[in-house]
This record gives sequence, structure tokens and C-alpha cells, in this order.
Amino acid sequence: MIKSIFTVILAAASFMPIEAQNITEITPGKVWADNNGKHINAHGGGIIEYNGTYYWYGENRPEKGFTTEVGVEVFSSKDLMNWKDEGVALAVTEKEGDDIERGCIMERPKVVYCKKTGKFVMLFHLELKGKGYAAARVGFAESDSPTGPFRFVRSLRPNAGIWPKDFSKKQIKIAQAQNQNDYKDWWTPEWRVAIEKGMFLNRDMKGGQMSRDMTVYIDSDGKAYHIFSSEDNLTLQVAELTDDFMDYTGKYVRIAPGGQNEAPTIFKRNGKYWLIASGCTGWAPNEARMFSAKSIWGPWTQHPSPFEGEAAPHKDGGANKSFGTQGTYILPLGNDKFVFMADIWNPQSLANSLHVWLPIDFKADGTPVIRWKNSWKLN
Ligand code: GAL
Repeated sequence: MIKSIFTVILAAASFMPIEAQNITEITPGKVWADNNGKHINAHGGGIIEYNGTYYWYGENRPEKGFTTEVGVEVFSSKDLMNWKDEGVALAVTEKEGDDIERGCIMERPKVVYCKKTGKFVMLFHLELKGKGYAAARVGFAESDSPTGPFRFVRSLRPNAGIWPKDFSKKQIKIAQAQNQNDYKDWWTPEWRVAIEKGMFLNRDMKGGQMSRDMTVYIDSDGKAYHIFSSEDNLTLQVAELTDDFMDYTGKYVRIAPGGQNEAPTIFKRNGKYWLIASGCTGWAPNEARMFSAKSIWGPWTQHPSPFEGEAAPHKDGGANKSFGTQGTYILPLGNDKFVFMADIWNPQSLANSLHVWLPIDFKADGTPVIRWKNSWKLN
């Protein structure tokens, strides 16, 4: 008898997943353990849902140092709280001189599913090994499975030789007349005017536009857009991708020229696009910026930061510092629920940067608001 009870218990235990977790709420700014009990190492990331499972892709960052030693990590979950480490989705290579050679920098990966090709497509910010942040490229990779392995396809700077779709012939002429050698110093009022007129846009016309902090947005009509910090992080650009999401159609516009916006995140509600970005202060937090538009092509209107209310209980936790965070993605859950995903960067140990997920609320006029919560339930 005792033996048979023991056998039953043993049998039951063998069906219990070893990685069973029991996280029942979101706790912004706290260590978030995966199925192995390790803090989720997926920073600057984004999430997709595919066949009832969520996949969270992000930067696998080292405990010490700033370069990419592993690649892009992917986690899976059914409930958005308990995450299983699915391993490396896109791995760095050991090949010397390769675009994604170990020691490069891969940041802000975003994966989208392309219905047309049936492939998972990953875009990410790529900096070449040993070149600091000078390369300013976007990498493309694809996979047949959401957990990879992704195959690196190529890296590039977008839209070489192409002017923004809303630039008139006259504006092109004016941009072509802006020359950075005419400006001894950056940041002077005249220099700023030249930036707005397209001095760096013109400078980079031949090799393509710089592409650093980024996200990818799939619109309700299935079209995909790459939104990225360009022109030396001074101007955001939104560029349409081809039907297979692997290239550009050449249609693009600039958002807030000279506004120095990074870390773009975007969602659409009631036909209106909302873009939340950060300023450019590296790993240090700053006050978020928000824009709205009725068309992805603009015009974009700037609003005050959506962060409001009481400070978060950690360093730089004030609403005026975006609660110490920098956004990375806005996860839509249905038509009217949106989760703002962000990182609290820890430059001493990037792997241990903390995740902050907060629900986006809306004022009576539809303006998004983000308030701090120590913990909250997703449903
Ligand atoms: C931040 C950016 C991060 C990373 C960092 C490097 O501004 O959002 O993704 O590039 O700078 O200093």
C-alpha cells in the first residue's frame, strides 16, 4: 500500500514541469525570474504572440561589459508572467570580420511574423565589433520558428539615395545646400536649423540613413514599419518595409527633426497613433516624449510626457525621469489594453538591468497616461 502511494506520488511528480513557476502579478522594477530562477536576460526587447504563446525577444547582455557575447535571447510564456528561457534566437558568430561577430553590439531586437512568407523576421540595431556606436546599422534575420535559430541575412543603413516622401523638390535643394563643414560647433542655433533642414539626411544620402534605437510596428492593414533614431540620434525616421519585411519600399518620413528622440515605442488606439520615445542620455533616464498622428506618415504632434503621478521607489524614480526607465516596446493586448515595456538600465551590469511593465491608462480625451505601480495584475 505504502509502496503504491509512493509510486503514484512519484508518477505525478514526474509530470510536473521542473520549471513550474507561480508568478501571479507584474512587479515593475523587481528581479524577474525565468523558469531557471535567473533574472530574465532579454533587454531592449519586444514581444509577439503566435498560436497562443507569447515570445519575448531581447538583448542577452553580459554581467560585465557592453558588447554582445551571446546574441538575442528568446523566452516563451502562456500568461506573460511565467517565462521559459528558450535559448539564443540569434547567436553571434566566431567569424572574424563578420557583421555579427562576437563583440559586436546587438540592441533592441524586434521580431514580427510575416503572414505572406510564413517567416519570423527580426530587425535589430547593430554596431560592428570594435567600432563603438559608429556603424549605426540595422540587422535583418529570419527563422521558420519563433524560437529560432534565426539566420542572419544582412545589415545595412536604410534608404540610401532616397529622400523622405514628404520632401518637396525645393526642400531637397535646401537640404543639399547644408554642409557640416560650414559649422565649427554642434548645438548652436544655426546648426540646429541646418539639422532640421536635413544636413545629416543629405550627408548620409549615399550610404543610407543611420539606424540606432528602433522598433518595428505592424499596422492593422498588415504593413510593417521600421521606426528608428537616425541622423546621429537627432531625428526619428519611420520607413515602410516591403511585403516580406526584409527590405524597404523607399517610403519614409522624419519625425520631430532635431528633436533628439530615442527608444521609440508605438501603438494605435481608435485610429490614432501614439509614439512614446526618450531623450538621448545614454543609459541614464530622462523625461519621455510623446507624439500622436492620424497617419503614420504624420503630421506628428508633440504632447507632454505620459508619465505622471507619484515617483517609483528607486533612484531617479520620478515621473520627470520616466520612473527611471527607458521604453522598449508597447505590447497591445486586444484593442484597448496596452502594456508599456521598459528597462531600468544598469550600466555596471547590463544583464541585471530591471524590467518595468506598466499599463497605459487613458484620460477622458484619449491621451495616454503611465502611472507607477509596485505591482499589478494583467487581467
Ligand atoms: C541608450 C540606448 C540604448 C543603448 C545606450 C548606449 O540611449 O537607448 O539602447 O544604445 O544608449 O549608451
